[in-house]
Amino acid sequence: MSVPVIEARGLWSRYGDTVIHKNLDLTVQRGQMVGLVGGSGSGKTTLLREVVGLLRPWKGAVHLFGEPLHSGDPGKDRHLRQRFGMLFQQGALYSALSVFDNVAFPLREMGIRDLDLLRDLVHLKLAMVELEPRHGGLKPAELSGGMVKRVALARALALEPELLILDEPTAGLDPDRSDGFVRLIRELQSELGFTVIMVTHDLPTLLGLSTHIAALADQRIVAFGPPEAVRQVDHPFIRNFFGAGRSAADSP
Ligand SMILES: Nc1ncnc2c1ncn2[C@@H]1O[C@H](COP(=O)(O)OP(=O)(O)O)[C@@H](O)[C@H]1O
Ligand SMILES: [Mg+2]
Repeated sequence: MSVPVIEARGLWSRYGDTVIHKNLDLTVQRGQMVGLVGGSGSGKTTLLREVVGLLRPWKGAVHLFGEPLHSGDPGKDRHLRQRFGMLFQQGALYSALSVFDNVAFPLREMGIRDLDLLRDLVHLKLAMVELEPRHGGLKPAELSGGMVKRVALARALALEPELLILDEPTAGLDPDRSDGFVRLIRELQSELGFTVIMVTHDLPTLLGLSTHIAALADQRIVAFGPPEAVRQVDHPFIRNFFGAGRSAADSP
C-alpha cells in the first residue's frame, strides 16, 4: 500500500491538566473520504488542528504524506502546507476582503502576481464551486450561508490540494443547501481525486460523503472502517450516534 496521507501514531493531547487524546492512532489512505465523528468536546477539532500542524500534540507523532510535521525546516513545512486545504467552521472567510481576494489569497501567498493569471485562476476556482465571476466583487457579509461555504471551499481548493480538511462543513445550512454542498464536494472529489477528512454531526452529510468513518470516543479512535462496518461496532457512543440518527430520520 502507498504512503498514508495522514498517519497519527500514539497521539496524546491535553489542555493544561485535561487530557483530550490518549494514545490515539489514525491512518487515512489516499482517496479515502473519512468522516470523523465523536461527542461534543471529544477532541475532533483538536485532532484536525494537530493533523495540519496548527497544534502540537503532547506526545506522539503525525506524518502527512509520509513527512513529519514540524520538521524544523521552514521550506519543507511550507511545501507541506501547500498540499492540503482547510475549511474550518469558524473564520471561514476574511470579512474585509472581497470574494475575489479571498480566493486569490493563497495564490498570491504562493507568489502569483500576474493579474491576468490570477483572474483566470480565481474565476476557474469560482466556477468549480458553481459561482460566477460577478460574485467576485461581493463581500462575505453580502453572501448567503451556502455561498460563504462555497467561496471557502474555492479558497481551500485554490492550490489544488491532495488533502481537504473540513470541520462541520454543512453546520448552519438548511437541508437543501446542505445536500447541494455534499453533492458539490462529492463531484469535485471524483474529478480531482483528493483525500478528505471531515468532522460532521449531520448524518446525511456523513453518509453522503464518507467512504470510511472514524469514531472518536474514550479519548481515541475506537472504530475505523466503511460506514456499514462501523455501524455494527458494539460501543455505546456508536450505538447512540447511529441509533439516534436513524430514529430521527425515520420519524415523520
Ligand atoms: N484552546 C483550548 N484551551 C483549553 N481547552 C480547550 C481548547 N480548545 C478546546 N478545548 C477543550 O478541549 C475539548 C475538546 O475540544 P474540541 O477539540 O474543540 O472538541 P470537538 O471539536 O470534538 O467538539 C473540549 O472540552 C474543549 O472545551
Ligand atoms: Mg469541533
